Amino acid sequence: MKKLNCLFFLLNLLYLNTIQAQIYRPSAATERRANDLLAKMTLDEKIGQLTLYTTDWGSTGPTIREGYKNDIRSGACGNLFNSHTVGFVRELQRVAVEETRLKIPLLFGFDVIHGYKTIFPIPLGEAASWDLEAIEKSARVASAEASAAGLNWTFAPMVDISRDPRWGRVMEGAGEDPCLGSRIAEARVRGIQGKKIGDTDAMLACVKHFAGYGAPIAGRDYNTVDMSERYFREFYLPPYEAAVRAGAATVMTSFNDYDGVPATGNNYLLTDILRKEWGFRGFVVTDYTSINEMVNHGVTADDKAAGELALNAGVDMDMQGAVYQRFLKKSVQEGKVKMADVDEAVRRVLRLKFELGLFEDPYKFCDETRQTTTLLSPEHRAAARDVSRKSIVLLKNENNVLPLNKSQKIALIGPLADNKSELIGNWNGAGNANDCVSLQEGIANLRLANLAFARGCEVEGTDKSGFAEALRIAQNADVVVVAVGEKAMMSGEAASRADITLPGVQEELVLELVKAGKPVIVILMNGRPLAIPKIAESAAAILETWWLGTEAGNAIADVLFGDYNPSGKLPMTFPRSVGQVPIFYNEKSTGRPFDPNSKWTSKYIDEENSPLYPFGFGLSYTTFSYGEPKVDKAVFKKGENLQITVSLKNSGSRAGEEVVQLYVRDLVASATRPVKELKGFQKIMLKAGESREVKFTLTEQDFSFYRRDMTFGAEPGEFDIMVGGNSVDLKKVRVRMAD
Ligand code: NOJ
Repeated sequence: MKKLNCLFFLLNLLYLNTIQAQIYRPSAATERRANDLLAKMTLDEKIGQLTLYTTDWGSTGPTIREGYKNDIRSGACGNLFNSHTVGFVRELQRVAVEETRLKIPLLFGFDVIHGYKTIFPIPLGEAASWDLEAIEKSARVASAEASAAGLNWTFAPMVDISRDPRWGRVMEGAGEDPCLGSRIAEARVRGIQGKKIGDTDAMLACVKHFAGYGAPIAGRDYNTVDMSERYFREFYLPPYEAAVRAGAATVMTSFNDYDGVPATGNNYLLTDILRKEWGFRGFVVTDYTSINEMVNHGVTADDKAAGELALNAGVDMDMQGAVYQRFLKKSVQEGKVKMADVDEAVRRVLRLKFELGLFEDPYKFCDETRQTTTLLSPEHRAAARDVSRKSIVLLKNENNVLPLNKSQKIALIGPLADNKSELIGNWNGAGNANDCVSLQEGIANLRLANLAFARGCEVEGTDKSGFAEALRIAQNADVVVVAVGEKAMMSGEAASRADITLPGVQEELVLELVKAGKPVIVILMNGRPLAIPKIAESAAAILETWWLGTEAGNAIADVLFGDYNPSGKLPMTFPRSVGQVPIFYNEKSTGRPFDPNSKWTSKYIDEENSPLYPFGFGLSYTTFSYGEPKVDKAVFKKGENLQITVSLKNSGSRAGEEVVQLYVRDLVASATRPVKELKGFQKIMLKAGESREVKFTLTEQDFSFYRRDMTFGAEPGEFDIMVGGNSVDLKKVRVRMAD
């Protein structure tokens, strides 16, 4: 018996060595290694690779499983999220690679949405920079920091288009436009994944939430999504596609249904569009317990059936729901799920683990020294300050009250003026409020002699007892700077608002300050477009600063005092009132377009049609003038490129940057078309008085759309090409595409 045991032991050792020899041989092709490993796995081990659990460090929903360490040891859990920092990750990875039979390393995921330790502006804010290089750099820094803290996978970028500022998650995306959203999605994927998957300073990206999560009915998070496929493809799908084509390694499903089918069980989305149309090769993970939630959606009776629906639709990995772990084996045994489909899902996960290089060095993201030197480095803070000031949008500047003069007497007022914790925003990674520069500190860093401060009121509540002190310091000042907005938790997941005005008594505070007679400069700090018509009318100047992150105070001070000339443009329309929502610039032509002189046209009887601030809008401390756009040919053939040139002049007295925007309108088509659609943009820096010819090239793709029969392509006919500095003030030229 003893001899037999011995023999068994030796055989086992030999077997494991052979496994290792094959699997751990880095020279073999990834596919070969993944297949070798797959062939040695039990069904339980395979299901473990399709399972992702949160640790108890933080979660965004119910924590279903406890004892994740035992799950790792038994091979039941092959991936973790919400566990970071080198020491913690190293210990968990050690359990996986030393205490499990096959020694398969874990993936470590985390929501690194706008920075890990150095916090950058919220994504919506960064989108306002229209600066793809700066956005890519921000994602690069976030990825370098997070990967230095043990992580190898982030649940970003979030690329959901949204036209509804009630929806709290607009703060995580790039706004309302598919063209801007697509370019930003690509930049973020490039930044997160770095030069190539496997680089030690980069992570896997996860495009989310596929698909249509940004269009819940009434802006209420997790609500139903229903729209025509034409709309869906034209306005909502492009950024996901762009991110996938840019090489995003993974995709997350969304909580919502689309056209009656929950995204997590939606074969059309996950297989037909994502894999067959777009050629996606990575793996698909659920959003949290979205498999289980299909029972609530009422499309399956129980979790087991939900798991079958998900896997058969194309979901590879179950985040937190424990459905695959509890039921998938049985589903395979009953023939409800094919073994080959489970194998394919596992192969997708293993491929990426091999590509990351985790089999060669499971601790490659666990270097203490790198963690210490990388996080919050001066270079990272400088990058944050750079993109933060680029993200600020100057909405109003009456009589050029801005920039301020450093010798002016300033009254700094408002509940957010000395705040740090709200300024790092929602989804702030491992960010620490203490590392954030408040606005008060940012201004104080300039060593102004005349700065007084009073909070005035809180963000929420009805207490006006601080108004008197605020008014007192305002009266003694030359100018009032008032920082108002939202708390970080008022935006983001599960934070939809039915009322998108300034919360509490903040608006009243601002209006009282205006009455005091000194010019009032409003600094908005918020996670969504707000309806602020009274402030828009009465304040002398308004700076939309979103939540800018660690360097917020310095960046705002740079703009306030003219050390940086603001160049941001709104990535999302600001409504006058919530009743206008959803509101967006690229609306379709209607049969009764708005005519102020006719009752029977598309309009409200109690509100204007136009927004408070349109998409693409933002002022500068200088002015820009546009020439008439010129085309290289007024008539062009289908398939031919069209060149558009416009002259741009900095007609003011300071250097500044302008985002030149190009829009197209298809005048007659087989299906209704938007009144304008962004097709290109360029950010141009000009010295005072300098002029430049700005050139755009439009291809057939830019004139294409989903035609009446749902094929994608261009239809000959007339088009208006419009160029300008926002989506309203545009100069146009008409062209014709010949048959
Ligand atoms: C739910 C959120 O919708 C998703 O964006 C996030 O990545 C996961 N929770 C994990 O935290």
